[in-house]
Amino acid sequence: MKVAEASTIEDLRALASARLPRAVFDFIDGAADDEVTLHWNAADFDSLAFCPRVLVDVSKRDGSGTILGNRSSLPLIVAPTGLASLAWPLADVVLAQAAHGAGVPFTISTSSSVRMEDIRRAAPDARLWFQVYLYKDRDLVLSLIARARAIDCESLVITVDVPLLGRRLRDRRNRFTVPLRPTGRLIWDLVRCPRWTGQILSNGVPRMQNFVDGQRAASVASLAALMTSNMDASVTWDSIGWVRDHWPGHLVLKGVLHAEDAERAVACGVDAIAVSNHGGRQLDSVTSAIRALPEIISAVAGRTEVFVDGGIRRGSDIAKARALGANAVMVGRAGLYGVGAGGRAGADRAFAILAEEFDRCLALVGCPIAAHLDQSWLRQRE
Ligand SMILES: Cc1cc2nc3c(=O)[nH]c(=O)nc-3n(C[C@H](O)[C@H](O)[C@H](O)COP(=O)(O)O)c2cc1C
Repeated sequence: MKVAEASTIEDLRALASARLPRAVFDFIDGAADDEVTLHWNAADFDSLAFCPRVLVDVSKRDGSGTILGNRSSLPLIVAPTGLASLAWPLADVVLAQAAHGAGVPFTISTSSSVRMEDIRRAAPDARLWFQVYLYKDRDLVLSLIARARAIDCESLVITVDVPLLGRRLRDRRNRFTVPLRPTGRLIWDLVRCPRWTGQILSNGVPRMQNFVDGQRAASVASLAALMTSNMDASVTWDSIGWVRDHWPGHLVLKGVLHAEDAERAVACGVDAIAVSNHGGRQLDSVTSAIRALPEIISAVAGRTEVFVDGGIRRGSDIAKARALGANAVMVGRAGLYGVGAGGRAGADRAFAILAEEFDRCLALVGCPIAAHLDQSWLRQRE
């Protein structure tokens, strides 16, 4: 199968799996511990069934949405994903350009493998957001935020579900490290994937380019160590107020699953809450985000926007999230599978598949205006 023939995100996943070395595919595809939550993220979308309306004029449809005051072609935001260039050279640029082409915002990861300024240069008109962790080194956080403002990022996303890194067993078993170390298995993988290996050899091993700054990091190894040791397990709510004081744009809190935390986020003055379990990559056996969504929607009661991510692989998943009250979804792996399958063509295909499926779903459920979807369109399967 070629990228252009891919009909589903699952097709792109299969193409990415064939093209990428096993350790790289598993880094993207895998999750924490037994991957129970990874499974629930998808299964809980499947447990929601549509109850459509008929004899509705669906000849003209509007799948667009407003996300933090700006119109988007789809109620979708590309989620931040670190080290994306493992999937394709300059993947962050590829994804930002593809997101712009699809009319949706793109979130630069703090661990992006292209410097944020270079992403802006390559995608001058894109709607860019920036994601940050609250590192121990608060001056580093302030300098990242200042750079994000300087390149006109419209929203700052603070990810709060990483007091320390989740245990990703596939990475352990594959001996996947940053930087990549040539173990026996990896060498076999490199031989098996000559096109990927050729691209890496000509573009260099991806690293977290936002930190490659002056004295801060001389090597990939020191970078990875710097970032791990800089994760702050003592961060509390006070820090959100601190960021609010330093960021005049839209502020999004990503990684909230509990209704009381949603209340606290509202009190801290955030503009949106991203209900997320980090794609199942942090705490395993944590609830799927789509299950947590209704409680958070009712706790927030319209005081902030609410996004949801984790397991979105079809346009119908976007419709289900909208029907449960989310303003928009965020997608991580769907875009990465696309870019891993075939660079820009694959990323474009991923967003086109989601848009086409969403549009068809609106027609078939009898709701031509995406913004009108509500819970009456859904039933919970036993
Ligand atoms: C390879 C990979 C890297 C990620 N890196 C980050 C990151 O740097 N910052 C962050 O907040 N979330 C990160 N995430 C989580 C995503 O932003 C998002 O929450 C998750 O992918 C959503 O689930 P989905 O992949 O099923 O769509 C990453 C996810 C993946 C798969």
